[in-house]
Amino acid sequence: MADITVTEHLLLHQKRTPQATGQFTGLLYDLILSGKSISRRINKAGLLDILGGTGEVNVQGENVQKMDTIANRILLYRMERCGALCAMSSEEEAELIRVSPEFPRGDYILIFDPLDGSSNIDVNINVGTIFSILRRPEGHSDEVTLDEVLQPGLKQVAAGYMLYGPSTMLVLSTGQGVHGFTLDPGVGEFLLSHPNMCIPEQGQIYSVNEGNWKNWDAPAREAVNWFHGCETSDGKPYSSRYVGALVADFHRTLINGGIYMYPSDAHKPQGKLRLMCEAAPLAFLAEQAGGKASDGRGRILERVPDRLHARTPLFIGSVKDVEAVENIYARHANLAI
Ligand code: AHG
Ligand code: MN
Ligand code: MN
Repeated sequence: MADITVTEHLLLHQKRTPQATGQFTGLLYDLILSGKSISRRINKAGLLDILGGTGEVNVQGENVQKMDTIANRILLYRMERCGALCAMSSEEEAELIRVSPEFPRGDYILIFDPLDGSSNIDVNINVGTIFSILRRPEGHSDEVTLDEVLQPGLKQVAAGYMLYGPSTMLVLSTGQGVHGFTLDPGVGEFLLSHPNMCIPEQGQIYSVNEGNWKNWDAPAREAVNWFHGCETSDGKPYSSRYVGALVADFHRTLINGGIYMYPSDAHKPQGKLRLMCEAAPLAFLAEQAGGKASDGRGRILERVPDRLHARTPLFIGSVKDVEAVENIYARHANLAI
């Protein structure tokens, strides 16, 4: 395959991508540059004394890892200066960040999980950065309001992630399919390696933290049990895989098919995953790749967040596998009536 860089890819597709104005391409360029900086730090994390926790607890009530803070700062610093944004929201920041008047402002809003799966960082397992890009609604006043940011995932103009694994990859959709790029560290460029990624209609893998079993309600237990007893299209039982980093579990699901599940439970009645910086961007990618993303009762992309850090249950992956779960939830809802 010819070595097409991500910037060339965006320019080539500019005609078919209405968002790909200079401002939008510049935003993605700075986001990708931030990802390269994070990737370089992670590659050497064991040598730089940047493993382990900071001793702080974030707005989500989770222990902050040193790399969470580093990735967050890299993104906040560069993206505030990119000229395309009016506001940002990070998993690590309690409040909406409005771009300071000392910098040029644009029409876009960036929402990100700077380091997903960060509890894996000490054991050298894949982590990633997940991002969602929204456009500010028309007819606004000067100051960005929270209401302008709390948009359903359907309104995303782009979404994706950087996966820091054996290779660093960028997986991106601007609403024209899903394309994967692999970082060539020698050249320092992301090169198109996975054009037009598609999720198989049915998979062979289910992915869930079964340690939560005793806290699940009846439909969640039945959904997971369904995969215990279910056969794949070649008559074999489903396999279980769980990295514990959503971005890595999703990447496998995107390529191989199957389902990733994080149901709500007695300790997490709204679910664990964040709607705006985790579930919605991955749901955008899943649908663009021909898959499905649900909270068990409805489409993730239609959920309107009521706050920046709203959480949601998540069932995402192959259409048939996600529909099997939705059918179980629908049956339980009917039983309750
Ligand atoms: P983060 O590291 O950004 O806080 O996200 C952690 C999330 C997600 O990556 C992963 O799928 C999930 O937490 C794992 O949770 P459990 O350890 O509860 O399975
Ligand atoms: Mn995360
Ligand atoms: Mn995180």
